[in-house]
Amino acid sequence: MKKYKIGYTTGVFDMFHIGHLNLIKRAKQQCDYLIVGVSTDDLVVSYKNKKPIIPFEERLAIVESIKYVDKVVPQITMDKMNAWNDLKFDVMFHGSDWKNSEMYNKIIDDFKTVGVDVVFLPHTEGISSTMLSEILQKIKVQ
Ligand code: CTP
Repeated sequence: MKKYKIGYTTGVFDMFHIGHLNLIKRAKQQCDYLIVGVSTDDLVVSYKNKKPIIPFEERLAIVESIKYVDKVVPQITMDKMNAWNDLKFDVMFHGSDWKNSEMYNKIIDDFKTVGVDVVFLPHTEGISSTMLSEILQKIKVQ
C-alpha cells in the first residue's frame, strides 16, 4: 500500500537525463498513480527567456513512454493550484533543489489549505539540462 493515491510532478524535462528518471521513479514509489506536467515551450520562454532544445511534443512523448508515468499533461502555467483544480492530486513532488525557495514555500502554504502534501525528493547531483546545453554549446564553438 503506497502512501498516496494520486501524485503530481512537473518539469521541462529537456534532453531527458538520469536526474529526471530518478525523480520520476522515486515519485512513483510513493503514489499509485503518477501525473507528470511537462512545461510547454511558451511557458519556458516566458520565465527562462530561452526555448528548450527538444520541442514540447517530443518531450511530452518521451515522458509519456516512461513506465512510472501514468498520465502526462501540458504545464501551461506555473500556478500549481490551477493544475490541482483539474487533477485533484494528493501530493506534489519536486527535486530538493527547490526546497526552501520562495516559490515552493508559497506552494506549500497554498496546498496546505486543500490538504495536499509537498514532498521534496533527492536531487541527483552532477547533471542538469543546463549543463548538457552548455556542453553542446562548447562543442559547437570548437
Ligand atoms: N531533477 C533532479 N535531479 C537533477 C535534475 C532535475 O532531481 N539532476 C528534478 C528537478 O528537481 C525537477 C525535475 O527533475 O523536480 C524536472 O527538472 P527540470 O527543471 O526539467 O530539469 P533540470 O535538469 O534541473 O533543468 P534546468 O537545468 O533547465 O534547470
